[in-house]
Amino acid sequence: MKAVMFHELGGPEVLKVGEAPVPEPRKGWVRIKVHASGINFADTLFRQGQYLMKPNLPDIPGLEAAGVVDAVGEGVTHLKPGMRVTAIGTKTYAEYCTVSAAQVIPLPDHVGYEDGVAFPIQTLTAYHMLHTSHTTTPGQTVVVHSAAGGVGIVAVQIAKAAGARVIGTVSSNSKFDLVKQYGADEVVNYASTDFADEVMKLTDNKGADLILDAVGKPTLEKGLKCLAPFGHLILYGRAGGIPDPVNLMSLFQKSTKVSGFVLYTVSSMPDKHQAGVDKAFQLMKEGKLKMLIGKSYPMAEAPEAHRHMESRGSVGKLVLIP
Ligand SMILES: NC(=O)c1ccc[n+]([C@@H]2O[C@H](COP(=O)([O-])OP(=O)(O)OC[C@H]3O[C@@H](n4cnc5c(N)ncnc54)[C@H](OP(=O)(O)O)[C@@H]3O)[C@@H](O)[C@H]2O)c1
Repeated sequence: MKAVMFHELGGPEVLKVGEAPVPEPRKGWVRIKVHASGINFADTLFRQGQYLMKPNLPDIPGLEAAGVVDAVGEGVTHLKPGMRVTAIGTKTYAEYCTVSAAQVIPLPDHVGYEDGVAFPIQTLTAYHMLHTSHTTTPGQTVVVHSAAGGVGIVAVQIAKAAGARVIGTVSSNSKFDLVKQYGADEVVNYASTDFADEVMKLTDNKGADLILDAVGKPTLEKGLKCLAPFGHLILYGRAGGIPDPVNLMSLFQKSTKVSGFVLYTVSSMPDKHQAGVDKAFQLMKEGKLKMLIGKSYPMAEAPEAHRHMESRGSVGKLVLIP
């Protein structure tokens, strides 16, 4: 089969289309014929050897695939060949991939493969931060950093659907209209203005009840300054660098809290995982949550896709089509 592979760590140029054996599903796993593979910021870290999981060279990047179940391993009874699915896995920048059956989500008829591949990581990450790590309720103010990005644009909509007032941040004014179109009440350019001052102004000095931060070093400390009393900052990434350690005593001032989030925690809790899947698909069905496919690329253009994501110019979900 054709797959995007890398034989050495490095920049986007190390990604090349090559031939790899079609993987066989082991016990409890299924094989998917991939129709769309999701590109995540994490893939750019994986390519450089800086992600939680380390590559085993030569390796195939990719953590998400949507497509059709093609073969099932021993013991898998609830999934059958021919089913349309989306899933979290590994090595998904390929014509076929194998994934644990527990990580497979059947796709409802109303969801196509490209929208479906924006679901398992970005949508569920946004959903669980807003409704599992935190309880977002009407009237709360939620700040979503990098609001035009894959997780960000979904988080804006899920927070709005929960009745929150949403302040999105972006690094370029060219993303303003888009973030507003997807429901943000206000958008702040956090590269050219001090977003903490802006948040305080916009909330009459009360501050934000929740901040979703995957930027890290440039934003975390400022974020703590613009939290409301009992406010909550969730750190779930570090696109701008690993943040400096937090002085816990600084949390006393307004009884605030900081927590971390990684989706894998929820993926291993079947009830919570399924509740998130059902509720997020329901929001899509009701038209309250729309996937934004920023751009689709053929496999040969995987380097270009990674460059685009790293340039901070991409919006929404980037997709690779095998
Ligand atoms: N913890 C989890 O389980 C989990 C799951 C999914 C994603 N994440 C994290 O969430 C973040 C968003 O992921 P995504 O896949 O949806 O990507 P994305 O938001 O579509 O793309 C990354 C965005 O990060 C922002 N950014 C800030 N500083 C940056 C820098 N120095 N270099 C490049 N980009 C920078 C850019 O937007 P602006 O410049 O407009 O801010 C850029 O568009 C990533 O940090 C990712 O690792 C975490």
